[in-house]
Amino acid sequence: MALDPVIAALQSALAAAPDNHAVRAHLAQLLLDDGRAAEAMTEASAVLAAEPDHVGALRTAAEAASASGEEARATAYRRLADALDPSGTDVGGAHPGPRAATESVPSRPGPPEPARPEPARPEPGGDGFALAMPDTADELLDEWSGTDALSEPEVGTLGPAGVTLADVGGLGEVKKRLELSFLTPMRNPALRAQFGKSLRGGLMLWGPPGCGKTFIARALAGELGATFYEVGLSDVLDMYIGSSERNLRSIFDAARRNRPCLLFFDEIDALGQKRSQLRHSGAMRGVVNQMLSELDGATTDNEGLFVLAASNHPWDVDSALLRPGRFDRSVLVLPPDLPAREAILRFHLRGRPTGQLDLGKLAKATEGFSGADLALVCEQATEAAMEESMGCGEVRPITHRQLVDAVSSVRPSIGEWVETARNYALYGNDSGAYDELASWLKRRRR
Ligand SMILES: Nc1ncnc2c1ncn2[C@@H]1O[C@H](COP(=O)(O)OP(=O)(O)OP(=O)(O)O)[C@@H](O)[C@H]1O
Ligand SMILES: [Mg+2]
Repeated sequence: MALDPVIAALQSALAAAPDNHAVRAHLAQLLLDDGRAAEAMTEASAVLAAEPDHVGALRTAAEAASASGEEARATAYRRLADALDPSGTDVGGAHPGPRAATESVPSRPGPPEPARPEPARPEPGGDGFALAMPDTADELLDEWSGTDALSEPEVGTLGPAGVTLADVGGLGEVKKRLELSFLTPMRNPALRAQFGKSLRGGLMLWGPPGCGKTFIARALAGELGATFYEVGLSDVLDMYIGSSERNLRSIFDAARRNRPCLLFFDEIDALGQKRSQLRHSGAMRGVVNQMLSELDGATTDNEGLFVLAASNHPWDVDSALLRPGRFDRSVLVLPPDLPAREAILRFHLRGRPTGQLDLGKLAKATEGFSGADLALVCEQATEAAMEESMGCGEVRPITHRQLVDAVSSVRPSIGEWVETARNYALYGNDSGAYDELASWLKRRRR
């Protein structure tokens, strides 16, 4: 539909009745639809000057701001609109009735949006959070300029673990070590006390990408009957340099609220990698110190909180984090061995129609493949079978041939990691920290 004539008609109607906010809000939306964001913003602002809680105008203003690259402003408008109309159903008009000074904003379910600035919130009480909402986007922006941290974790994902070690294929040696160094003491407080093992500190899983670190951490949470809370550390740091400490504290607080909880920090090396970037602000030290004091639980109770970390680049991990009482135990997670590969293939083909398969043979042919590479093999074979099924109009099971073809088209992805790791094993292993890696590399060569 050509919008110009409608827009022109609305404009002349408004010239006669400038106080008709409903018409002006509609005009703003049409201007936006027509790609005229700046004009849309002018009209929406005029409506909001008279009616600050006009939900339709707030939403139009949000989109117009976003279209003009003003993200903070767009977020402010969106936040106000959401507070007035949490269900998002009121697109048209003003919020009915007088607005209470304090609104209840439910905590967000599901995966959060990254890097969204939050206004300061009072301490949580009950299930929801009381939040005094400013009246205009300008006030909200003002408030944000004074606060730079998240007080409620919008970082990472939190939920039931869903898997246990039984779902982790093969890797007998890794499981045995996890059982000894982590699960047994965690499960058994009496034993823990007897052997003087402290609950303090965490465990770091390290190794090449896509080989099951995250999967294993999740399975450990499952073993402990704990919630799994996964946080990418670089997200914490990137969000607001300088306020990462507060973010970190709120993450630990959220984990404590959800006990028993296994808090999993992915990319723990990000702290080390960002060192030069953060040095000037002194933020890096602050974050490390915050991490240490949270791990110590000196001022808070850490019972029922299990902390794990993972890294593909342990050589970049800040050494302060690896000292006793911190992430002082580490387990190397190498590419899956033969039984692991077979189990991983089985895991990824479960529930799919398959013909006669020789998974043992496929496992033999995929030496050096990571868990993620094997998942890709299964995906590709599945796609081939689906394509064939669509071609002939009936379900064709995945064949051994299709898997073999997929194996030859997927390139193992850990080559680059192995090259870097080899350098550290050869030239950076004075402490013996990479002995296990070195002997694996030697075996691999043969
Ligand atoms: N032993 C295993 N048993 C079953 N599945 C596995 C196993 N190892 C890895 N996988 C599969 O491989 C995928 C990749 O593993 P995961 O994401 O845990 O790797 P990662 O080491 O955390 O990788 P990254 O370093 O990229 O974060 C997982 O989704 C999982 O399905
Ligand atoms: Mg991972």
